Amino acid sequence: MNFPVKETIEQRKSVRTFDGRPLTADDRAALERYSQTVTNPFDVPVEFRVLDAKAHDLSSPVIVGAEVYVAAKVARQKNFEIAYGYSFESFCLYAQSLGVGSVMLAASLSRAAFEKAMDLKDGEVMPVGSPLGYPADKRSFRETLMRKGLKADDRLPFSALFFDGDFDHPLRKDIAGDFADALEMARWAPSATNKQPWRVVLDGDTVHFFEKQTLRENALGDVQKIDMGIALAHFDLTMQEDGHTGRFVDADPGLALPERVHYIISYQREA
Ligand SMILES: Cc1cc2nc3c(=O)[nH]c(=O)nc-3n(C[C@H](O)[C@H](O)[C@H](O)COP(=O)(O)O)c2cc1C
Repeated sequence: MNFPVKETIEQRKSVRTFDGRPLTADDRAALERYSQTVTNPFDVPVEFRVLDAKAHDLSSPVIVGAEVYVAAKVARQKNFEIAYGYSFESFCLYAQSLGVGSVMLAASLSRAAFEKAMDLKDGEVMPVGSPLGYPADKRSFRETLMRKGLKADDRLPFSALFFDGDFDHPLRKDIAGDFADALEMARWAPSATNKQPWRVVLDGDTVHFFEKQTLRENALGDVQKIDMGIALAHFDLTMQEDGHTGRFVDADPGLALPERVHYIISYQREA
C-alpha cells in the first residue's frame, strides 16, 4: 500500500469547503499517476480522470473553492458497483494521505457536464465525482449544517452492524479477533447520506458482507452498493496492513435475513 491505511482512515472526513489554492504540481502529478494504477480485487477496470473544473464546466452546489475534480467510470458487469466503490475510495484515501481533501458526490454535481468530460459510452456509468483540493480552515455554513443533518461525525455502534454466526447474535469487538481492526475501519467508511448499509456476519475465518438497502434505486442503480465497495476497501486494506491475506468469494451462507438485507460477498482469510 502507498499510504498508512488505519491512520489515513482515522483522519478522513469529507471536505466540501476548500481554500481555493490550486493543487501543487507535485500533488497533481502524484494523483494523476495513482489514478492510473488503482486496482480492486474484483477484476473490474475503473477508469479515472482528473479534470479541471473550468475547462469542463464542472460544478457542485455544495462545494466551495475547488478548481479540480476527479471522476471515474465503469462498464456495467458483475460486481461493478462494489469494484467502483473500492477503487474510488482507495483513490480518496491516497489523496487524503497527501493532505488533499475530497467528497464523493452522487447527487450534488453537474452530472451532464461530468459525463461529457468522462466521454461516457453506452453501457458505462459514472456514479460519482469528487472535488480535490486543500481543506479550508473553516467549513462553509452550508457544510456545517449538512454535517449536522447527516450526523456525519457519528456511526452506528459495532454491535448494530456486525454479528456472530447469524443475525441474532451481535458481535462484540473484543471477540472479533484478527478482524476487529478491519471491521472497525469498515464502520468508519463514508456512505451516501451516511446510511451505513454494511452488515457483517462472522463465521470462523469467513466474513460475510450484506447490504441493508434503505435508499431507493434510481436510473443509475443502487448507490448503496457503491457504499458496500467503500466498506470492503476499508476492511481489505486494513487486513493487508495488519499482515493478513485473504480473498473475496461468492459464498452465501443462506442465513435468515432481517428486512431489506441481502447478501453481497464474503471474505475468506487465508493467513
Ligand atoms: C456514494 C456516496 C455518494 C455521496 N453523495 C453525496 C452528495 O451527492 N452530496 C454530498 O454533499 N455528499 C455526498 N456524499 C458524502 C456523504 O454525505 C458523507 O460521506 C457522509 O455524510 C459521512 O461523512 P464523512 O464522509 O465526513 O465521514 C456521498 C458519499 C458517498 C459514499
